[in-house]
Amino acid sequence: MKPGVLLTRRIPPAVLRRLEEACAVDRHDADCAIPRHELLARVRGKQALLCLLTDRVDAEVLDAGSDLKIVANIAVGFDNVDVAAARRRGLVVTNTPDVLTEATAEFTWALILAATRRVSEGERLLRRGEWTGWALDFMLGMELRGKQLGIIGLGRIGAAVATRAPAFGMRVAACSLDGAEPPWPAGAVPPPVEMMALQDLLSTSDVVTLHVPLTPSTRRLIDDRALSRMRRSAFLVNTSRGPVVDEAALAAALRERRIAGAALDVYEHEPRVHQGLLGLENVVLAPHLGSATTETRTAMAALAVDNVLAVLSGRPPLTPVGA
Ligand code: GLV
Repeated sequence: MKPGVLLTRRIPPAVLRRLEEACAVDRHDADCAIPRHELLARVRGKQALLCLLTDRVDAEVLDAGSDLKIVANIAVGFDNVDVAAARRRGLVVTNTPDVLTEATAEFTWALILAATRRVSEGERLLRRGEWTGWALDFMLGMELRGKQLGIIGLGRIGAAVATRAPAFGMRVAACSLDGAEPPWPAGAVPPPVEMMALQDLLSTSDVVTLHVPLTPSTRRLIDDRALSRMRRSAFLVNTSRGPVVDEAALAAALRERRIAGAALDVYEHEPRVHQGLLGLENVVLAPHLGSATTETRTAMAALAVDNVLAVLSGRPPLTPVGA
């Protein structure tokens, strides 16, 4: 008999076929996250759970899924999974690192450019029919050349963002919360990086971009105090996890023009966005698209499936977390 797998969301057909060849797959195929009660009911008797960052996999889910051998999260971040509780039950937890690094770094640059060159604000104005024509002083933004990019978290994605900085003429400052060596992408020429303390990075950077995982020590890392250290002309970009930023404090700083602008891809309570941000012109708001390319999402699903197939056939997982 094939082992049972609960899949909480659609994955590309070719990847699904590979999973279905080896497993009996129970799919939640809807356009929304699996409702909590269904997750609890349908995980019973399954040996693997293939889930997304929108699914909270806590002790209650793990108890309901007492036959589980693996929780394979289709995301690099795994703050939605209680990894300690999984480990206590002898379960493997896997994520999807590496395959989304380049897509997320590209999207970070899309946000940096959109915020500093007022792309969304300009498009909104144009669509409202309010564009009266070219003018020398119309919608001026900030040029990147010669400015400092401050990267908080120089892991895989932070390093991939850094390698693109010389193309825009930016110098790079970084602060690493774990002190690990930056994992420069294979074949990339590492740019010169000035490592500095968080406070110094905040007070000297023209663009601050966040690339840390969400942990107890990074929750609300960017609070009112941190924002007050930033320059009035500076921009904040977040493609990591929403709760790393205190959204209410950010909304106030943007409203009062204590910083020039921001671009966010992630939010404290997704898919809800703080009301105070929605009416502001100086913030770009993207709906969690960091890794959203066809190539990357397919690779993420494939890696998660490979992890499931490995563990269910008694082989070690490819990308376990906290191993
Ligand atoms: C996306 O946010 C991910 O963690 O993969």
